[in-house]
Amino acid sequence: MAKWVVEDRKVKHVYWPSDAMKKRAWISDESFYREGQKDPVKFWEKRASEALDWKKKWKHAYQQGKKPWQFKWFVGAEINACYNALDRHIKAGSGDREAIVWVPEPTDDKPKTYTYKMLYDEVNRLASAMKKLGVRKGDRVSIYLPMIPEVVISMLATSRLGAIHSVCFSAFSGESLRDRVDDANSKLIITADGYYRRGKPLDLKKNADIGASAPSVKHVIVVKRTRLDVAWNKKKDLWYHELLKKADKYCEPTFVESNEKLFLLYTSGTTGKPKGIVHDTGGYLTQAYWTTKLDFDLHDSDLFWCTADVGWVTGHTYGCYGPLLLGARMLMFEGAPDYPDPGRWWKIVADHKVTVFYTAPTAIRMFIKFGDQWPEKYDLSTLRILGTVGEPIDVEAWMWYFRKIGGGRCPVIDTWWQTETGGTLINSLPGVGPFIPTVSGRMFPGTHHILLDEDGDEVKMGQGGYLAQVPPFAPGMLRGVYRNEKKYIDTYWSRFPGYYDTSDGAVMREYETIRVTGRVDDTMKVAGHRLSTAELENAINKHKLVRESAVVPKPHEIKGEVPVAFVLLKGQAKASDALKQEIVKHVDKMIGPTARPGEIYFVEDVPKTRSGKIMRRILRGLLKNDKDLGNLTTLMNPECVEVLKKIVGYKA
Ligand code: WTA
Repeated sequence: MAKWVVEDRKVKHVYWPSDAMKKRAWISDESFYREGQKDPVKFWEKRASEALDWKKKWKHAYQQGKKPWQFKWFVGAEINACYNALDRHIKAGSGDREAIVWVPEPTDDKPKTYTYKMLYDEVNRLASAMKKLGVRKGDRVSIYLPMIPEVVISMLATSRLGAIHSVCFSAFSGESLRDRVDDANSKLIITADGYYRRGKPLDLKKNADIGASAPSVKHVIVVKRTRLDVAWNKKKDLWYHELLKKADKYCEPTFVESNEKLFLLYTSGTTGKPKGIVHDTGGYLTQAYWTTKLDFDLHDSDLFWCTADVGWVTGHTYGCYGPLLLGARMLMFEGAPDYPDPGRWWKIVADHKVTVFYTAPTAIRMFIKFGDQWPEKYDLSTLRILGTVGEPIDVEAWMWYFRKIGGGRCPVIDTWWQTETGGTLINSLPGVGPFIPTVSGRMFPGTHHILLDEDGDEVKMGQGGYLAQVPPFAPGMLRGVYRNEKKYIDTYWSRFPGYYDTSDGAVMREYETIRVTGRVDDTMKVAGHRLSTAELENAINKHKLVRESAVVPKPHEIKGEVPVAFVLLKGQAKASDALKQEIVKHVDKMIGPTARPGEIYFVEDVPKTRSGKIMRRILRGLLKNDKDLGNLTTLMNPECVEVLKKIVGYKA
């Protein structure tokens, strides 16, 4: 039986929008859905015209080449992302509107508000400075910054020049940054001296320097955020504030053809090396604009807080481009959710009167654990809409979020999407519904997914299947894997000819809704972060005492899943707790703390097929205490399974 098949539980709770919500919502009936179904290309063409300022209109709204992955949106059109996020609001007289309310982590630091005009001024200066340093259209710029406004400013300055940004999550290690910088061949890195995490300033520059050792890097721009005394390379390093002081006030935006790259974002796939997901400009922005506006029903009076770090795709689309394209107000928070105490997020919601709040199930589960007293201390009555993303949400977390945070008033919008899709694709809209725990909801108007079995046939309602997208592909979809077309085709376009393969399993449910059950490939979601088993194994195998390793996810109460490593040591090495610690440190160095194994088992052997392939499925089963571990007779070494049962304390 395929692993994505889930039982078709009876749905207990089905919620629908209140009259007040319907009245206020941009969309409260079927009209958009019908329009999208009738002619998706026309639907998006209309949406693109309404949403964005184009310098030149397209010749063709959608072009499908011979192969399914050869599709393009808005062919021949010209656009600039930064112009749409900033200039046009200034031109429309909205320069004084608040764009970003930034909350620093230290509680004695004051929040800082940027109006659209302030953002515009700083972005122009930074873009001018970058231009002087030689950044041109199509060049890659790596951004390695924490959650400070400069991260958004850097993204916009890059796109203003028609250059391509590649943001690397600031909690990733220097080695991870270097891999990404190398693959993208970035000329420039924008980073900071450090940032605050749980009350302490952390040195980011020393990691950035590892990235800056990549031969392509000519300059490193450093934002001063802490007073840390950081290492300085006179040949490459430049202080952000000094550059800005000298820079020209205005930098002409470079308009690009809509299909030119806006950004790369590296994500885990099933191989050891993260792949650079390529996003175009006009298609991506169109989907970013409309999904932000409709999923969260954003109005001028709203304050939108997407808690995701800009290092992830959620931060790109809903913590930068989406809200800014709309001219909306968004909140950005530098720090940890539980610092100085587990009430911090709820205090921020209350202090700033946040109205729309978007987070991940792993955070919700963490807050359930902290206890109800924390949200109860604060007035959360300004909240209207809640969102969740990143992994399947369980009933308990959904109900707690709905009742404790949303006071039973706010719809929970469970958005399913991926780094590859650029924007949300499956979720119910606040004014339409339905809102059902564990069920993401309906397909976004103008997009279409189906569920297929192993043979590529559509499955019936209530049955599990592979989730695949049907052409015309959504405008925000990836356009490639950077400099690796083979991987692009193999990963997304090979299993089901003609469709985009999401690598997720799902079930079609009542009211035209879809419940996404999780990945069907060797990637896992650790606290919402996407990690591949191969990437971790590669990192662990690089330790000098390790011969081989197998990594599989194990269910975890808060993080959803944690990686567990089965490690085979080299002949001379002795298993010890100290060595475990050393391997953990090694993973921190190679990838970053997000990838830390929750458990390491030193073993003599792992189950393998006769051709030597590790059977991770069996290891997963052992950790989950699955009664049925599957067929063991085809293994090369079935006897090792008995040994492993004892080591992991298997009870079934
Ligand atoms: C999972 C995050 C269930 C899914 C935007 C997908 C979800 C992967 C949901 C992409 C959801 C994301 N319900 N599963 N609402 N949202 N996923 O690239 O397995 O970090 O393929 O993008 O997260 O992860 P990524």
